[in-house]
Amino acid sequence: MKGIELISTSVQETQRIAKRLARALKKDDCLALCGDFGSGKTTFVKGLVEGLKVAKKNYVCSPSFVILKIYSGRLPVYHFDLYRLSEVRDCQEIGLFDFVAGGGVSVIEWADKVKRFLPPDTVEVKFAICGAQKRRLRFLTKSPRLMRTIGKLL
Ligand SMILES: Nc1ncnc2c1ncn2[C@@H]1O[C@H](COP(=O)(O)OP(=O)(O)OP(=O)(O)O)[C@@H](O)[C@H]1O
Ligand SMILES: [Mg+2]
Repeated sequence: MKGIELISTSVQETQRIAKRLARALKKDDCLALCGDFGSGKTTFVKGLVEGLKVAKKNYVCSPSFVILKIYSGRLPVYHFDLYRLSEVRDCQEIGLFDFVAGGGVSVIEWADKVKRFLPPDTVEVKFAICGAQKRRLRFLTKSPRLMRTIGKLL
C-alpha cells in the first residue's frame, strides 16, 4: 500500500489536515483510524466532521461508550469507535459493513480489527504519539484516486 506521512504539532493542525481531506471525500469512502489512546483519532474526526459541513450543534463531543454516531453533513458521516468490540462478528452485528457501503463517509476509530474487510476506497490513518503536542499521521490507501487526494495533503 502506498502512502504519505505528516507531522502535526497541535490539535488545530490535526483538525486542519482532517478538514482538508474531508473536502475531497466521496460517498462510500472509508477512513480506518488506528493508534494508541490519546494519539488523536477523535481530534481528527472533529476536523473531518467540520470539513463535511456538519452543523456546529451536531459536532463530535465525546464518543466514549458510544459505538456509532451519525452526523448529517454534505454526506452522512458514520463515526464508529470499535474499542469495546472484540470480534469482527460484533462489527457485523452492529451493521458496520452495511454503513460503510451506505452512501456516506465512514470513519472508524480502532479500525485494526476490521481493516482487512474494508473496501478498496479506504484510507488507513495510523496515529503515533511523538511528544506532548506532536503526532505522526501516516495515510495509506490502495485506491489511486484516494492516493492522489492524500498526496495533496503534503
Ligand atoms: N498534535 C496533536 N494532534 C491531536 N491531538 C493532540 C495533539 N497534541 C496533543 N494532543 C492531545 O492528545 C489528545 C488526543 O485525544 P483524542 O481523544 O483525539 O485521542 P484518541 O486517539 O481518540 O484516543 P482514544 O483512543 O482514547 O479515543 C488530546 O488530549 C489532545 O489535546
Ligand atoms: Mg477516540
